[in-house]
Amino acid sequence: MKKQMKNISKQNFPTLRMRRLRSDASMRKLIMETSLSPHNLIQPMFVIEGKNKTEKITSLPGINRYSIDNLLKEVRKIMSLGIIAIALFPKISNKLKTEDGAEAFNETGLIQECIKRIKNKFPNLIVISDVALDPFTSHGQDGVLDKRGYILNDETNAILLKQAISHAKAGSDIIAPSDMMDGRIKVIRNGLEKNKFFNAKLLSYSAKYASNYYGPFRDAVGSANSLGKADKKTYQMDYSNKTEALREVDLDLREGADLVMVKPALPYLDIISSIKESYKIPVFAYHVSGEYLMIKAVAKNKAINEQALVLETLTSIRRAGASSILTYYAKEVAQWLN
Ligand code: PBG
Repeated sequence: MKKQMKNISKQNFPTLRMRRLRSDASMRKLIMETSLSPHNLIQPMFVIEGKNKTEKITSLPGINRYSIDNLLKEVRKIMSLGIIAIALFPKISNKLKTEDGAEAFNETGLIQECIKRIKNKFPNLIVISDVALDPFTSHGQDGVLDKRGYILNDETNAILLKQAISHAKAGSDIIAPSDMMDGRIKVIRNGLEKNKFFNAKLLSYSAKYASNYYGPFRDAVGSANSLGKADKKTYQMDYSNKTEALREVDLDLREGADLVMVKPALPYLDIISSIKESYKIPVFAYHVSGEYLMIKAVAKNKAINEQALVLETLTSIRRAGASSILTYYAKEVAQWLN
């Protein structure tokens, strides 16, 4: 391999002209190393209680919260564009929120009902369900707190397990713990096996950073107000760290994860790429709400071509090693690609 590289690099101008292969569009397509198709895109969707409801999310222009009936209509549209997977997130009313987020494992809760109805109507759609307590807790944290406000790990895992089982029972294809508690993959995998959900897939948010890019999402699920000025730095990762991400992936794989997620995406391409090189597994990336908003905001400027910018951004995430990308742009990009 090395020898070959040397021989090639011995060629030089004019024997070798790199521009030869860039001479026209078809030639460029022929040698393209990375592609982007609707199959690589996962649409995050927000669900609310009620009937025939569609609410705009001001901090995520173009993205809505839907009641289940309207969400089903939207799902039909995005499937017709070639999208094959969605990720569901609930916004529940404040009166259902508690210290321990017990609504998260209500078998007839909003998300559980939503999963059942979607899988009933669209059995081939891949439903990814979020396992974390933040949309359900009165304090907006992803776990339960002790008296001093510290997020308790093992106690939280016990609740996450119940939440995960309720999703599997409802028919979720991919259960995605996004909470960053230690050992939760092991606890959930064992629970799924015990309950005979042998094919339930676990997508672990292995490398989830305590990021400043999550603001609009927290508005969307209504955890921003509950969280107030608090942060999630005792469980989500410090953005200065990279080797720690590899350790997290290593642990999650040994605990039973099938897929791992890096989040956010664009500022963390190095993390995606390192994981992809170190482990022979599918890596997903979450192009998060702040990343989406950043492009939407800059696209108002006529100097920017939004479509071209988004395609470049998402292709770069694929090039770094992501099999699939969760992005609020999924539907729009699928329209462009069609
Ligand atoms: C937390 C969770 C977050 C997102 C999805 N699930 C972040 C957080 O509040 O810490 C963010 C996704 C986005 O910004 O698009 N369980």
